Order: sequence, then structure tokens, then C-alpha cells
Amino acid sequence: MNEDLEKIKKQALADFAEYLSPMKTRTMKSAGLDIIEDKREGASVWDITGKKYIDCQTGSGIMNVGRHNKEIADALKKALDTYDIGVFLLCSKQKADLAKKLEEITPGDLKCTIFGTGGGEANDAAIKIARGYTMKKEIIYTEKAYHGHTGFALSAIGRDAYKEPFEPLMPGFKMVPFGDADAIRKTITKDTAAVILEPIQGEGGINIPPDSYLPEVRKICTENDVLLILDEIQTGFARTGKMFASEHWGVVPDIMTVAKSLGGGIYPISATIFKEEIMDFFIPHPFIHLSTFGGSDLGCIVGLATIEYIQKHNLADHAAKMGERFRKGFDRLVKDFPDLLLEVRQKGLMMGLQYTNQSIGPRLTKKLAERGVIAVYTGNDPSICRFMPPLVITPEEVDFVLNALEDSMKAISKESGIGKND
Ligand SMILES: Cc1ncc(COP(=O)(O)O)c(C=O)c1O
Repeated sequence: MNEDLEKIKKQALADFAEYLSPMKTRTMKSAGLDIIEDKREGASVWDITGKKYIDCQTGSGIMNVGRHNKEIADALKKALDTYDIGVFLLCSKQKADLAKKLEEITPGDLKCTIFGTGGGEANDAAIKIARGYTMKKEIIYTEKAYHGHTGFALSAIGRDAYKEPFEPLMPGFKMVPFGDADAIRKTITKDTAAVILEPIQGEGGINIPPDSYLPEVRKICTENDVLLILDEIQTGFARTGKMFASEHWGVVPDIMTVAKSLGGGIYPISATIFKEEIMDFFIPHPFIHLSTFGGSDLGCIVGLATIEYIQKHNLADHAAKMGERFRKGFDRLVKDFPDLLLEVRQKGLMMGLQYTNQSIGPRLTKKLAERGVIAVYTGNDPSICRFMPPLVITPEEVDFVLNALEDSMKAISKESGIGKND
């Protein structure tokens, strides 16, 4: 044990508690995750004291290209020799290059982009565009949905606890169950502007809808002149084994939002991508939606480098392969520990394990941390442990995580015999 590093860590945790969040510090400590991130590489992160972890949390999917990806970091370093963030008022080649690339990789006829810095901002823009373009007011969203904590996005979160202290929120938002296309059909009125959905709910508990759901929702939206907004902020950029999750069902939204992994884990950037006809709304007022830092030149350079990395290394295929490897291990665990695990939810490397009992969550997170794996339950469903490792994870690292899981399950079983009847 290096006492100097232990001292630095203790001080950083104390300062974090004092100046940022005492509750977060306490919660992380009790979960065994009072880590001070230091070195980061591939699927791993090291605590400042030197302990190594496989990161299966990755900020809920920011690190698709791996922790501190050297190629992306080098692209940023090179850019810094010449550029700064740029001035939002002026046109820029960096913005144009990334927007053109997004048109190329997004499905169907999605074409135009508005940049932002984060996911909530991208969803705010999507909802604003939907209202502005359709001149209608209502937005339909789903139970357990997570779209960010900014103004319009917060109104579309499907969990009251995040919203109640800030009410009244935006009017005109209506919630329906996720996975139920008929509920959307029944909720649409003449004043419905858009339906906003995650193709697979992330914070909601890795909820994968029935195969008929998205195509049916697409049909309902088209028939009723309602825009479909797909939030691919967690599911995008090869996470599920395709560049975008909506491709699994062949569905093209009218507006798609992306963020998180677009920044390569290096520089924040988000985008709201929409069909060309929607640009009509901006013709009379091109400056109606602005973001000083959104789509900064540095962010765009990083975004482009990130997409090129994903394509060059075929991370979608790799995610599908590593997902299969995880699946075999997860299935075995569900069979071997029926008192602890109920089911596996998975598309590529977007994965969740459902516990039989919510109290298992914090205990499993702690056991996994002791064994060098970071994995935490989802924000809107604490009965699901989420696994979203970097897509560059190797077969050996997958096996390491599975072994740590098996070991943790054994330890929990032995300790208390916790199970379905608790
Ligand atoms: C699906 C989804 N949408 C939106 C957001 C909000 O993104 P941000 O935290 O960058 O505002 C998140 C964040 O976890 C998300 O998972």
C-alpha cells in the first residue's frame, strides 16, 4: 500500500464530499466504489492507489471506443495545435464535416443536424423542433424513459422522483407504457407533435421492446402526421451490435438524438439529426435555437475521429460477438443462481441482469468492485444490474467479468441465502 497515494485519495474524497456532494461520496463508499479515477485504458480504469477495474458502467455508455482512446486523444491534441472551440455564429468546416458524416451513417433519409453539448440538450432541441415544425403541442413519452435533466427532456422522463420538486414542468406531455404501441395510438390527438422513445430503454432497465413495437409505432406516427423522435444517446454508435439500435427493426425516425459516445469519452458533443423537410422550420428563423459550445470545432473533430474509429475497427460486429460471449455466461449464471437472478436482457453489449430481489443490487455492486469490476443498477429500475463495457473489451476481459460475477453470486448466496422469498 502506498501511503502517499492513500492520503491523496482520502483528501480528494473528503474535498468531494465537502464541495460537491456528501451523499454521493457516502453512497459510493457503501457500494465499494469510492474510486478516484486515475489511469484509463481500453476496458479498464485504475483507482489512484493502483487498483484496476474493468469498467462496465462507462457513464452509461460514453466510452464505446474505450477509456482514454489514444487515437481519439491524439486527434484532439493535433487539433489543439491550431484550433479552439470556434465561434458559434460562424460557419465551420469541422461542423460541416461531422454533420455530413452523421448523414452518411444514420439510417434512411435523416440528413440535417443541430449540435449541442449533451444528451438533454439534444432532446430539448428535438422536442422544440417537433413543436416548431408541426405547430402542435403534445409530446408522448414512455414510463421509465430517461431523456436527460434539462427543461423539455426532464418533462419526458418516466420517473416522478426526478420531476416532482421542479413542477410545474412543460405542459402537454403524456406518458404511456413502454412497449405498447396501441397505447400510443390511443393517446394521439390532433394536437400531438411527436412521440419520443429510446429504442431500448437504458435507465429504465435495459428494456428491449417486442420486435413489432418500433415498426408499429413508426406506422402509427406516419398515419397520424406525428413525428417520431428516437433517442439513441445510450444505444447509438455500435453499442447494440449495429451502428444504431433502430436498425435492428429497420425503423427510420424523423428525428434522432445522439450524444455520449459521440464524444469518444474525450470531449462532450451531442447532435439532433432530422429529415430535410423539417429544415423548413428554420428557414424563416435560422437563429431560433442556439448553443454557444454545441458542436464546437474541437468536439466535431473528436466526433469524426470517434465515428471513423468505430467503423475502422468494426466495433458493431465486435460488440455482437462479445455480447454472445457474455450471453453464454449470463445464461449459465441464471441457471446456477435462480434465487438471485431472474433474467438476462441484452442486445449486443447493452446488457442487464435482473435480480430476484432489489436488495441484491448494492451487495452485488460491492462484491463486484472487490473483484475488480464496476457495474451498477440502472437509474429508473434498481432491480437491473447494467453491464455496458467499452466495445473494445477483449474475450479475456469478458471472461474476467463473468468469473467475478460468479464469485460474487457464490459469496452472496453463502452469506445470507438471500432469495425470492426475502
Ligand atoms: C437515453 C438517454 N437520453 C438522454 C440522456 C441525457 O444525457 P446527458 O446526461 O448528456 O444530458 C441520457 C443519459 O444517461 C440517456 O441515457
